[in-house]
Amino acid sequence: MSVETIRVSTDWLDLREAADAAARSHELVAELRRHLPATGVRVIHDLACGTGAMGRWLAPLLAGRQHWVLHDRDADLLDAAAARCPPPAADGAPVDVETRCSDIARLGADDLAGADLVTASALLDLLTREELDGLVDLCIAAGCPALFALSVVGQVEIAPADPLDARVAAAFDAHQRRMRGRGRLLGPDAAAAAVEQLCLAGREVLVRPSAWRLGAADAALAAAWFRGWLGAACEQEPDLADDAGAYARRRLAAAHAGRLAVTVGHIDLLALPRDRGPR
Ligand SMILES: C[S@@+](CC[C@H](N)C(=O)[O-])C[C@H]1O[C@@H](n2cnc3c(N)ncnc32)[C@H](O)[C@@H]1O
Repeated sequence: MSVETIRVSTDWLDLREAADAAARSHELVAELRRHLPATGVRVIHDLACGTGAMGRWLAPLLAGRQHWVLHDRDADLLDAAAARCPPPAADGAPVDVETRCSDIARLGADDLAGADLVTASALLDLLTREELDGLVDLCIAAGCPALFALSVVGQVEIAPADPLDARVAAAFDAHQRRMRGRGRLLGPDAAAAAVEQLCLAGREVLVRPSAWRLGAADAALAAAWFRGWLGAACEQEPDLADDAGAYARRRLAAAHAGRLAVTVGHIDLLALPRDRGPR
């Protein structure tokens, strides 16, 4: 059985970075701050970091020196992440990064030894159930807070509405749950599965919405997202192709004219060890 890898482009991550930043939950960061060490260098492992957007957003919201360990299996993305270090901490303390080319499904407890925080962003839907359980086990073994941001939950709203929207959305969700060489992907079910597993493992889990709300100012992202969404749906349900051409022309014309409003549902979750209060 071959194990396929889903590659993500720097261009796509760059295009979405501002919308991601606007969507991420500040409320969870306020809670997280109370559970980080008050002194010393905070060691933060960002799993599947891409170009490092999580660090660029979160580092300046936290106080104190930070050492970010950025993990991804894509060496090109890691090079981009190393070249774009996060800004200093909220109090001006220095922030540095180290990159590690790793498959997060193969990390062991030793790889995260000494972590004060584990983060991941826009990752969970790409995992199989086995990989998600492994990730949860890894976070439990690390014994520190874990912040998983921007997990899709299968909720898409496009205005103005179109009769084909619901069929495309259903096909897209089925595509997200498709079989890969290493098993069935969790897609929009991943976030709920993560919450359940973390609660079962005794973590306190806080969940907040972090939807993208794209309007006229995000026309390029809305159009790129729409192309990817429809493309995946047609791959899953080839019969959709008959109607997809006219549908895409209508939708893309509206996006480029700034007349398309798109909401893509995500959640952010923060998992806190119950036996470790504010530090
Ligand atoms: C949608 S991108 C998100 C990137 C980044 N976290 C962000 O929010 O911009 C998903 C990332 O997961 C990485 N990835 C997926 N599966 C992985 C695995 N098993 N091990 C390491 N990285 C993985 C991809 O290379 C990609 O960078």
